[in-house]
Amino acid sequence: MAELRGFVMAVAAAVLVAVVSLAPGAAEAKTTIEPCSGSDSCQALLGYTLYADMKVSEVAALFAADPAALLAANALDFGDPGAAHRILPMGLFVRVPTRCSCADGVRKSVSVRYAARPEDTLATVADVVFAGLASADQIRNENGLASTDPDAPLDAGQKLVIPLPCVCFNSSDNNLPAMYLSYVVQVGDTVPAIAASYETTVTDVMNVNAMGSPVAAPGDILAIPLPACASAFPKSASDHGLIVANGTYALTAGNCVQCSCGPGSLNLYCTPASLSASCPSMQCPNSNVMLGNVSTHPTGAGCNVSSCNYGGFVNETITTSSPTQMSRTTSNSCAD
Ligand SMILES: *[C@@H]1O[C@H](CO)[C@@H](O)[C@H](O)[C@H]1NC(C)=O
Ligand SMILES: *[C@@H]1O[C@H](CO)[C@@H](O)[C@H](O)[C@H]1NC(C)=O
Ligand SMILES: *[C@@H]1O[C@H](CO)[C@@H](O)[C@H](O)[C@H]1NC(C)=O
Ligand SMILES: *[C@@H]1O[C@H](CO)[C@@H](O)[C@H](O)[C@H]1NC(C)=O
Ligand SMILES: *[C@@H]1O[C@H](CO)[C@@H](O)[C@H](O)[C@H]1NC(C)=O
Repeated sequence: MAELRGFVMAVAAAVLVAVVSLAPGAAEAKTTIEPCSGSDSCQALLGYTLYADMKVSEVAALFAADPAALLAANALDFGDPGAAHRILPMGLFVRVPTRCSCADGVRKSVSVRYAARPEDTLATVADVVFAGLASADQIRNENGLASTDPDAPLDAGQKLVIPLPCVCFNSSDNNLPAMYLSYVVQVGDTVPAIAASYETTVTDVMNVNAMGSPVAAPGDILAIPLPACASAFPKSASDHGLIVANGTYALTAGNCVQCSCGPGSLNLYCTPASLSASCPSMQCPNSNVMLGNVSTHPTGAGCNVSSCNYGGFVNETITTSSPTQMSRTTSNSCAD
């Protein structure tokens, strides 16, 4: 680990020199911001490139996230009890789920605390450890370190709040549910290539980020809208506003329930999760089926089909609903 870290630092130093010599007096990297008021928070994703080989639990700890939630957001196997110890390779790009708060009038994630290690500087914490998601200036301002040289070693153990960029834009894009990923533009990226890799259009990326031209510089942070499945849980639910990006999962209700999105329809689909031992009942009342399952009742008029759907975590209770629909069959048998 020590050797690996030494190598990473050398790479970072080379990159810093290159940036400084290429762009004296160049404009600061741009970040898309969303003004906000009030104290509501919403869910967003951070695009993070690992600076070293790291365990799932280490990446999760860096971002104050739950390891299972991190795996679920990347559609990696979160049910395996050993999954948190899995080693992810240096350079891997992951989506880190984050709670996007409203602080100082803008959306940002402010729950991450980092304890400086020997030889860390503001610049290496920003550019290496957090892979450009925060700048040295932002960390300095957030922590009131006005006079700290970004390249001076920090005191080992010094605790820093790391402000991280996020936006929610009402969890929608073009009137469709969307979850926003904060993406750090890499050397060699172009806006058309970024848009294409997230199956969206250049126009959409430009609109979301209020860009005048389809040009972004390395280090800029773009908000990328990802198609998602929205929930309709009541305000009283602790997971009100749950949103899940297409092709991924989220864990909720104290990791008792897992919800998936896509790849076919963009309807949230929730089932019991197999992670936690003691979970409240997940059976729909007046039926013998569990969350996520369907029951059928033959009736004189045809076959009644009711699905057992998750309705939010209210007061430590898993609420369910089981809307009934007549299947299209004209026979009164429920055989499929
Ligand atoms: C946010 O979205 C909800 C429905 O998803 C809508 O009712 C509301 O008007 C939207 N608010 C804004 C400010 O766009
Ligand atoms: C959701 O993801 C699948 C692939 O995982 C893709 O085929 C589908 O087009 C996506 N849906 C939307 C609305 O982007
Ligand atoms: C759904 O029902 C099937 C058979 O009735 C059962 O094997 C399965 O465990 C159930 N799944 C859930 C999520 O309740
Ligand atoms: C079947 O569904 C209809 C309409 O929702 C409902 O009126 C009826 O009571 C249901 N029958 C059974 C046996 O569930
Ligand atoms: C939550 O449950 C407690 C104890 O069962 C009850 O006293 C309280 O009124 C409940 N709150 C809500 C919002 O339902």
